[in-house]
Amino acid sequence: MSNASSSRRNIIVVGAQWGDEGKAKVVDMLAEYAHVVIRSQGGCNAGHTVKFNGETFKFHHLPSGLLYEEKLCVIGSGVVIAPEILAKELEDIHGKGYSTKNLKISDRCHITLPYHIEQDKRQEMIRSAGEGSSKIGTTGRGIGPTYMDKVGRLGLRTGDLLEDVAVLKAQIERIVVEKGFFAAASVDYLLNVCLDYKKILAPYICDTVELLQDALAAKQQLLFEGAQGTLLDVDFGTYPYVTSSNATAGGACTGTGVGPSKIDATLGVMKAYLTRVGEGPFPTEDLGDVGDILGDRGQEWGTTTGRKRRTGWFDGVVAKYSVEVNGLDAIALTKLDVLDTFKEVKLAVGYRHKETGAMVSRFPASLHTLATLEPVFETMAGWESDTTEITNYDDLPETCKAYITRLEEVCGCPVWMVSVGPDRQQTLIRQHPFG
Ligand code: GDP
Ligand code: IMO
Ligand code: MG
Repeated sequence: MSNASSSRRNIIVVGAQWGDEGKAKVVDMLAEYAHVVIRSQGGCNAGHTVKFNGETFKFHHLPSGLLYEEKLCVIGSGVVIAPEILAKELEDIHGKGYSTKNLKISDRCHITLPYHIEQDKRQEMIRSAGEGSSKIGTTGRGIGPTYMDKVGRLGLRTGDLLEDVAVLKAQIERIVVEKGFFAAASVDYLLNVCLDYKKILAPYICDTVELLQDALAAKQQLLFEGAQGTLLDVDFGTYPYVTSSNATAGGACTGTGVGPSKIDATLGVMKAYLTRVGEGPFPTEDLGDVGDILGDRGQEWGTTTGRKRRTGWFDGVVAKYSVEVNGLDAIALTKLDVLDTFKEVKLAVGYRHKETGAMVSRFPASLHTLATLEPVFETMAGWESDTTEITNYDDLPETCKAYITRLEEVCGCPVWMVSVGPDRQQTLIRQHPFG
């Protein structure tokens, strides 16, 4: 497929569940057809794994297009940056022989400062204390507090680091006063921290709005890489058990300065089952043998924190909701191979009220309401064969295709891509997103 013949130029890839759907694998694979790969929200809470040439790459801030030297990789204004973690990421990727000469960081990104990380940890401790813990299970990386200060107009941006030291210092003083930090020394301390951050970030900071507008004018193809997932979105997720940014498709526009009229398709990445890391509701969670098998076969340990991910069957109510709030054109179904050994596979096709038995087809906003519901599963024949070497969709076992067809019906959305392994080539394309 040549870029010149593409009718869909600009594509958003979003996580359509609770994160870790395999977005990076899909973005790495699609990046071959794009000119620019852009992250638009989240920060180093993201853990995006790409397997290529026998090596494993774990990205936190960096776009998953970075393994293609010639692609422009952009960190948009909606991303919050933890400079020390980014420095480590850069060191890792350089150590593996890859260049970051095409990396650009927006001058409007907010910066995570040491007190944001402390606040994140302190708030989690308070939430855990006493009976009835309301702990969120955050990644402990200061994400929530950084976004709080951004919205509270008390943040420090990447562009501020490039100002004269006196201007930067005045900015820090304003923050210190408004936040009620007492020690006068904290201004000097924070200024020194910021000057260190400047050394890391300065080579990459620029006006990425201009860059992306130029790319659009030149009819280049843009690939937006979401972080987290729809049910972790601050507006549409299982609040308060969410992250602090818009992980849904709209975040790709607000976090980059590319308007919605420029978007040609939105692709939702969904695992063929479900995982969640951290606390919060998970209606189809399986705490028994099935959950263990999914966790073992899927290697479900968090990329960022190493925590064991919770597991369960595919939830069609979550998926349909995700199709709606993202306006998904298609699904990229990942980790299908993890189901290869099951005699039977299940998917939730609705929820039922635990007491009255009344059927519910929509995902509620209220977690209290959600707790009164239980999933209604449909059981289908498994395929009990290895799909990892299959290269054509039609060659999948019939029972496997029947499962995908049912999943499409339940979601009301077509599956365009199927992933049967972590490598780039383990991808079955039914319709090319850039087609
Ligand atoms: P992301 O945060 O959405 O990018 O996903 P993660 O990288 O956190 O987690 C997905 C994990 O599944 C990674 O270890 C990937 O290498 C792996 N993976 C992606 N697609 C597939 C697949 O189709 N099959 C299998 N077995 N593993 C996959
Ligand atoms: P990727 O991009 C899965 C979860 C955390 C916690 C909640 C809030 O790899 O899919 P935060 O640190 O953001 O304030 O934590 O969100 N979380 C993720 N879960 N994948 C992610 O990113 C996540 N990023 C945050 O576990 O429950
Ligand atoms: Mg992840």
